[in-house]
Amino acid sequence: MPPIRLAYVGCGMMAQRVHLPNFATLPDCQLVALAEVRRDLGEKVQRRYAIPRLYPDHRALLEDADVTAVAVSAPYALQGEIARDCLAAGKHVFMEKPMAISLAQADAILAASQCTGARLMIGYMKRYDPGNELVHATVSQWRISGELGNVTFARAHGYGGDWTAGINLPPVETSNEPAPPSPTEENLPAWLPPEHARGYVSYLQQYTHNLNLLRFFLDAGERARVKHADLDPDGYAGTVILEVDGVRATLETGRLRHYRWDEHTQVYFERGWVHTWAPPLLLRNAVAEVEIYRSDESGAPGALAGQGVQHTLTRPIPEPRWGWAYRRETEHFLDCLQTNQPFRSPAEDARTDVRLFEEIYRNWLQI
Ligand SMILES: NC(=O)c1ccc[n+]([C@@H]2O[C@H](COP(=O)([O-])OP(=O)(O)OC[C@H]3O[C@@H](n4cnc5c(N)ncnc54)[C@H](O)[C@@H]3O)[C@@H](O)[C@H]2O)c1
Repeated sequence: MPPIRLAYVGCGMMAQRVHLPNFATLPDCQLVALAEVRRDLGEKVQRRYAIPRLYPDHRALLEDADVTAVAVSAPYALQGEIARDCLAAGKHVFMEKPMAISLAQADAILAASQCTGARLMIGYMKRYDPGNELVHATVSQWRISGELGNVTFARAHGYGGDWTAGINLPPVETSNEPAPPSPTEENLPAWLPPEHARGYVSYLQQYTHNLNLLRFFLDAGERARVKHADLDPDGYAGTVILEVDGVRATLETGRLRHYRWDEHTQVYFERGWVHTWAPPLLLRNAVAEVEIYRSDESGAPGALAGQGVQHTLTRPIPEPRWGWAYRRETEHFLDCLQTNQPFRSPAEDARTDVRLFEEIYRNWLQI
């Protein structure tokens, strides 16, 4: 199939550290254009990746009929506005999370997509980690077979740490020009008190990953709601109790000065669990670690209650054994465009994460 002709918008940190190195080296992608408001930065990055055309901002590339898809990474509230314009111009879009900082913004983006039929995929790379794929498959299989009973609880924990894994890569290109403003205030939920704006965006942008992954593991779709939120005054550290596809779930958030990345997710059944630990995000080629515990009846005739139970704890190696979630999500985006298959992390589904963060803060602030 012919490669997807892609334009990248915003040459900042994520573009240079993660997405451009991936898009530039995948055979299914032809990087045909770049858009960057800061001209000096755009020129340096254009040279580094030998990208044919450079535009002064994303609007300037919308008329480029040679571009079929756009990828964008920019500040939290800004990237959704860029994505909306590109969708309205009929370009398919891959964008970094968060999709939006309010439901109103998310719905405006979705309306643009519906209007032209252009599709939007959100960069929830955790869904493309082979370890998380194994967890998803195991949880789904156990729920269908019922072999370990019902799901009783699910837990997402994210205290952070060092997400860079001490990478020693060439420095990213920088600019002497000021970065353009990000339209944050006008896109925040109307009900949010201004003094909570900073905490809200910071919390949402970080933990949108974790709620998204929980919903993925439980195939919950929109079936998720907030029951109780208990956060510190900073609006960041705390615990939230949710119901995700009928299952009680917690989201534990906080900060930890940690040498690697303190993030894990666990799904409990009546007779076992599946547990996964995220790798530091920029550690290329490392996949999530998985541990599976099960207690099975041996079925031995005459066994007394509690006897004849076999307990096993395994640490299966996911396949592929090595891989980088960010690269795999990029491959998925290109593949779905070429084959017209649905995205695993479409914007329509990501809207639920945006809704849940509004619910969390409203519950916490009792608004
Ligand atoms: N998935 C993850 O694990 C992960 C990790 C870190 C960050 N992120 C996400 O990445 C995003 C941050 O990206 P970043 O750090 O690369 O941002 P950045 O601010 O470093 O770069 C954005 C660039 O976009 C340019 N720009 C702004 N408006 C533009 C326009 N209209 N047209 C063209 N260029 C424009 C700016 O000049 C800037 O150079 C955030 O939204 C964050 O949530 C995701």
